[in-house]
Amino acid sequence: MHLPQAVLTLLLLNVPLISAKPAKRFYDTHNYYVVEHKSQHLDDASLDDAAAALGVELVEPAGEIPNHWIVRRPKDVHALYSRSDDAVDPVLQKYQELKQLAETHVVARSDSTHNARRVVDSVPFLEKQTLRRRSKRAPPPIRPGDEEQPSPTSARGIAARLKIQDPLFPDQWHLVNDESPEHMMNVVPVWDMGFTGKGIISSIIDDGLEFESEDLKDNFDAEDSYDYNDHEPLPRPKNSDDHHGTRCAGQVAASKNNACGVGIAYDSRVAGVRILSGPITDVDEAAALNYGYQNVSIYSCSWGPPDNGVSMEGPSYIIKKAVVNGINKGRAGKGSIFVFASGNGAAQGDQCNFDGYTNSIYSVTVSAVDHRGNHPYYSESCAANMIVAYSSGDGKHIVTTDKGKNHCTHSHGGTSAAAPNAVGVLALALQARPELTWRDVQHLCVETARRINPNDEDWEKTVGDRYYSYKYGFGALDAEEYVKAAQTWKLVKPQAWFDTPTVRLDNGTVDTNGTYSGGTPIGAGGVNSTISITKEMALERNFEKLEHINVKVWINHTRRGDVEVEVMSPNGVRSVLAKRRRSDSSDSGFPGWTFMSVKHWGEDPVGNWTIRVFDQQSEEQQGLFLGWNMIFWGSTIDPSRAVQFDLQPSDEYLLPPKEVPPPALPPAATTTQTLHTSTATATQTNEAVALTTTATAGATGTSIPTADEGWFPSMSKLVTSQKWFFAALGAVAVFGLGIGAFLWKRRMSRVSGASHYSALAGEEVSMTARGGGALTGGTRTTRDLYDAFGELSDDDDEYGDESTALNRAVARQAGGGAGVGRSNLGFHSGFLDDDEQSAAPTAAAPLYRDEPNSTVRRNSTTDLSGSEVSSEEELSSCGPPSPNGSSSLGESWEHASRA
Ligand SMILES: *[C@@H]1O[C@H](CO)[C@@H](O)[C@H](O)[C@H]1NC(C)=O
Ligand SMILES: *[C@@H]1O[C@H](CO)[C@@H](O)[C@H](O)[C@H]1NC(C)=O
Ligand SMILES: *[C@@H]1O[C@H](CO)[C@@H](O)[C@H](O)[C@H]1NC(C)=O
Ligand SMILES: *[C@@H]1O[C@H](CO)[C@@H](O)[C@H](O)[C@H]1NC(C)=O
Ligand SMILES: *[C@@H]1O[C@H](CO)[C@@H](O)[C@H](O)[C@H]1NC(C)=O
Ligand SMILES: *[C@@H]1O[C@H](CO)[C@@H](O)[C@H](O)[C@H]1NC(C)=O
Repeated sequence: MHLPQAVLTLLLLNVPLISAKPAKRFYDTHNYYVVEHKSQHLDDASLDDAAAALGVELVEPAGEIPNHWIVRRPKDVHALYSRSDDAVDPVLQKYQELKQLAETHVVARSDSTHNARRVVDSVPFLEKQTLRRRSKRAPPPIRPGDEEQPSPTSARGIAARLKIQDPLFPDQWHLVNDESPEHMMNVVPVWDMGFTGKGIISSIIDDGLEFESEDLKDNFDAEDSYDYNDHEPLPRPKNSDDHHGTRCAGQVAASKNNACGVGIAYDSRVAGVRILSGPITDVDEAAALNYGYQNVSIYSCSWGPPDNGVSMEGPSYIIKKAVVNGINKGRAGKGSIFVFASGNGAAQGDQCNFDGYTNSIYSVTVSAVDHRGNHPYYSESCAANMIVAYSSGDGKHIVTTDKGKNHCTHSHGGTSAAAPNAVGVLALALQARPELTWRDVQHLCVETARRINPNDEDWEKTVGDRYYSYKYGFGALDAEEYVKAAQTWKLVKPQAWFDTPTVRLDNGTVDTNGTYSGGTPIGAGGVNSTISITKEMALERNFEKLEHINVKVWINHTRRGDVEVEVMSPNGVRSVLAKRRRSDSSDSGFPGWTFMSVKHWGEDPVGNWTIRVFDQQSEEQQGLFLGWNMIFWGSTIDPSRAVQFDLQPSDEYLLPPKEVPPPALPPAATTTQTLHTSTATATQTNEAVALTTTATAGATGTSIPTADEGWFPSMSKLVTSQKWFFAALGAVAVFGLGIGAFLWKRRMSRVSGASHYSALAGEEVSMTARGGGALTGGTRTTRDLYDAFGELSDDDDEYGDESTALNRAVARQAGGGAGVGRSNLGFHSGFLDDDEQSAAPTAAAPLYRDEPNSTVRRNSTTDLSGSEVSSEEELSSCGPPSPNGSSSLGESWEHASRA
């Protein structure tokens, strides 16, 4: 059913390719799904055939994710009267039936099995969408502190020299700190160099953006803005507390004018994508993270799963898929920059390695320091922290634009405000050096961050003379250092990675029902296990220098918060991945949870990596360590052999995992002999040692890629053929799912992180609130997953009118070469144009609360001694003097282990 080329061309010519704004959603009357559709064989079902077979209508492409579509089906009227939560979903059931039919033995093959196979082969992924809510990383409450006005001289002097008339500029201590000049973002020297963010667009994914504000209207980018809560083109803040996004936007791009203060990149532009003002689906969140991703350089994300020290949650497959898509394709292939706030849950014992957004290798994870360079009580620690930026604490807050036409605030803060300060600096750097890839941006963080508060015992030496702290990451982001380094930075070679085999301890297994079996009991001294990395493993995958590591674990425990995990590198550098979490009493363990560490950046990965899993040795609570594996991420030896990472659907919890062979590398351009010699020495030093041979230097890859060609000018053929292969593999993985897996997932979603938000105020409540099924407070956040049983009321005959926008979208994707067979799919335009309410954010959804729980005590229970840097620790064994109570209340993560 391929359209003739001429028709296609006509279609493309007739319809402007400017992407339309997303369609309004009708959650009250329709169920929404996301499907991946690929025509791999001539025979595969076209998109509309597949939709017809599944009984759904096409809505629009799933954001920017290639080959993924949003589809919907009217809710069953009867289901509205019955308890719809438990009702079986007809689309998911149909998909199951088709899969079963497709797997029918050849002998029994019939037309219907053939058709089922056509559909199933073309739809490797289908997921129902449910509404859920992310938490803003709202400013922690003001605590009394030193309210003394800073001496205005220096800030006033700069204002006069730079003709800054914004009345609150002198109060913006994060820009010019008169009291502690060593503690500020240090942007003035960069402004003096002529960089003010011109030409750079940042997208504030948040609760809206006051685009009519005097301070923001000139820098507002409407084209790249959208409201996914109310499905309107502009991200107008509507709820009374929708001021968070506007405040963040002001920090980045408030104009140099007469209103409030100025943004760090005050000539840059900001878009607003509204997702936090009510529940949204995963596919809309995914689309939000790619919204405008060719023009937008940086996505500022000051939100995530609840910071309650209980939840362990990350982005779902479709959201991760969007992030990888932004990394691979965004910014003309240089990669979208995702900046995430580390979280405000430190006082609740929360750690950013329990948050799958902040512990993603694709995120620049930003924690907070206060105006004196101290660690504020709220700011979360973990081995995934990359840098800190200035924010509230010790009596001072961030001064920025507020909701309203000409409103300002003196009370913005939390890691929420740290992240946009980093975004502003990165916008300056991208103006200075637009060709930085997403990994260059991270490298520059590692290389240039300033080691503040050097006596803090959280600092540990890693390789060379580099230090790392769970609280501060590699240190405070300094705009001047960063931008200067960016100007002369030698761009890194493309990414390489390799996985280790999965180690199973005592036949540790997690089956498709999510049932744990086997595993080594965690006794006194914990369980240690080693993975040996050989030079050959790295060479075989064209791997040169280490950046991030992932450590994935399967641990079954009666009380998850008791479990601690750390990994020791061959060079004696230890990453603490999980510390005790007092509030986390979940019994669902770590079913294939992935931790991340940046602490080993620049190390030689060759040698033994040893994981240690231990617990509190309590009498009532025990557990088993079942298995683990690692992924090493870094740079290639030979850039011409680089392969782009892509994500395939898989059941992350299965142990042993489904084996998926890594993508084949293109043949070496040079003899492997020379390459071998080059890596043998390449890893130990910090510098990006350009030891690739002269032969490789002659290849295209070592030159700086232009924006248009990216690193992979000659890769397209390869990528295409590999896509085919992996799509097939992915499909196999998906088809292999048992019905039980769906039930398991549902069970897990009910069990995990089920504490009610308001329970945070009192520890006792939060202990008993488990199992409530709500992640952020509303019942609507419980994830519905595949319901595989029940009646199918098949009603395929509900396709509406043609819709140009949809055709346009189909044509757009068809341009990629997939088989097209348009018939009469449509928007149901009549339906879409009416006034019906979409799912309005319910007032019932409780608000985020992040009052520190003053009853939380951090007793020492665990000794993590044995680190290589103990002499360093002894030096500062008294700990840093804490200037006042606010910074020391929660004690730090690391300190807690040493009292
Ligand atoms: C985005 O980029 C395209 C192509 O570079 C350009 O035509 C368009 O105007 C840009 N949009 C904005 C909002 O800058
Ligand atoms: C693991 O499984 C193998 C084969 O099924 C068996 O021989 C072995 O005894 C088991 N080991 C443990 C510790 O259960
Ligand atoms: C999963 O559970 C179902 C129902 O209890 C059972 O029939 C099936 O055998 C289980 N699967 C595995 C792999 O244990
Ligand atoms: C391990 O998991 C199983 C179910 O998957 C559970 O029945 C058992 O109690 C768990 N054991 C421990 C020690 O947590
Ligand atoms: C694991 O290694 C640590 C040192 O890193 C040691 O203290 C502990 O006793 C070991 N545990 C076991 C069970 O061998
Ligand atoms: C690495 O571990 C293996 C076994 O776990 C051991 O035989 C080997 O000696 C270790 N290598 C080093 C360098 O410690």
